Amino acid sequence: MELLKELKGRDFLSLADFTPVQLEYLIDFAKFLKQEKKAGKPIDFLKGKTLGMIFQKSSTRTRVSFEAGIYYLGGVGLFLSANDLQIGRGEPIKDTARVLSRYLDGIMIRTYAHSQVEELAEYADIPIINGLTDLLHPVQVLADLQTVIEHKGALKGLNLTYIGDGNNMANSLINGGTKMGMNVVIACPKGYEPDADIVANGYKFAQSSGGSLKITHSPAEGAAGADVLYTDVWASMGQEAEAEEKYQRFKGFCLDEKLLALADKEAIVLHCLPAKRGLEITDGVLESRQSVVFDEAENRLWAQMAIMASVM
Ligand code: CP
Ligand code: NVA
Repeated sequence: MELLKELKGRDFLSLADFTPVQLEYLIDFAKFLKQEKKAGKPIDFLKGKTLGMIFQKSSTRTRVSFEAGIYYLGGVGLFLSANDLQIGRGEPIKDTARVLSRYLDGIMIRTYAHSQVEELAEYADIPIINGLTDLLHPVQVLADLQTVIEHKGALKGLNLTYIGDGNNMANSLINGGTKMGMNVVIACPKGYEPDADIVANGYKFAQSSGGSLKITHSPAEGAAGADVLYTDVWASMGQEAEAEEKYQRFKGFCLDEKLLALADKEAIVLHCLPAKRGLEITDGVLESRQSVVFDEAENRLWAQMAIMASVM
């Protein structure tokens, strides 16, 4: 109850803004919602509440899991394509924030610049949830942590290696993993490292949680002894123009059977999806018995329901 009070009314912009205890609470809450809903028990904690969902980029998982999730909690979701809003014609975010605050109980937003989400949060009186920016994807990583716990029993002390682009996924995995006492390794090509401020904070989080953080340019070194192997696309949404160059630069960073064989025998494979088979991951690894990507995708629903039910 104390933790619920701490979380009520908060924005959910970055995992770095929350304590390990608060993150653990959200994961436990997600587990509870999953159990209760599957047992047919009532979970209508947000009866009569309305969530606006602003999308400036494409989405399958985020859109559908937020919309279904708010409905299962007793509320309603409004899909707002940024192209159809006046934002698309240049209305400032700060005006949109104050107007939507008069109609809604919360907003989830997926956009490009992280500063847009911060500005929305600054001007809105209602909780703002980050549904992906170029910098971070925190709701995904909360679901990822829940998935790791379900399959490995814990987080603390586990070796989590991310192989690929130092993008929004790498940044949020650093935040979440180091906060929760994991040994996080990012294996990326030179010049594609994660955000420098996030890395600097990650070292600090690791120091207080007993975890660690390492950036390497060797995928084999990263994969060796990993309990969790993670990858994501090499060209993120908005990077279409750089895609061909990146595909050349990332050769050798494909999560394939050879890299998987270097990991712990019981290692699990995660990918936030959508995946490009044959680039960042082979079809064989994605479809292997060690891959838990669809459990991971499912947990988006429960983790986000826990976030919404707590902050809204
Ligand atoms: N992983 C993820 O956020 O998927 P979508 O882009 O489909 O929402
Ligand atoms: N890094 C990817 C994640 C998609 C869920 C992107 O931003 O496109």
